[in-house]
Amino acid sequence: MHTSRTLLLLAALFAGSVFAAQSTIDDDFMRTVEDTHKSLTGNVGISNAPGSIADARELAVMFAQIEAFYVDKGDAPDAVTLSRQSRELSDAIVKSAGRQDFETANLKTTELSRACKSCHNFYKKS
Ligand code: HEC
Repeated sequence: MHTSRTLLLLAALFAGSVFAAQSTIDDDFMRTVEDTHKSLTGNVGISNAPGSIADARELAVMFAQIEAFYVDKGDAPDAVTLSRQSRELSDAIVKSAGRQDFETANLKTTELSRACKSCHNFYKKS
């Protein structure tokens, strides 16, 4: 009984550290963000609603992870704001593509590109 409880606790601790490792912002993660963003720009450009919605949903999840990472880090308020804005823009793209409003989806996609650049200006080291 005791042993299995200890094992459960250990399992929970490990799960926690795996999650923390995944929410690190490294080049690999950012490359996935970039690929998805490129795909989104293409899909919005050709008014592909299902593709745009799928890409924007993925981006919203990744920006939520980026936001959580910077909230945790605690010393990068601009990155928290920018990742939150990016998540909200992604959600807005999901909604506008859902009602075939590609004029709005295009505007939001442009704003999203600007948010990428703003964050890189602040925080990207190279
Ligand atoms: C909240 C901050 C933030 C946002 C928003 C953000 N990035 Fe980044 N990005 C970073 C940081 C920090 C790095 C540097 C990571 C590193 O070098 O470890 C980076 C690196 C990159 C890289 C370089 C990876 C490489 O190969 O060197 C690309 C490409 C990239 N981001 C694309 C994007 C795109 C596209 C968006 C928007 C859809 C975006 N990023 C939004 C913080 C952000």
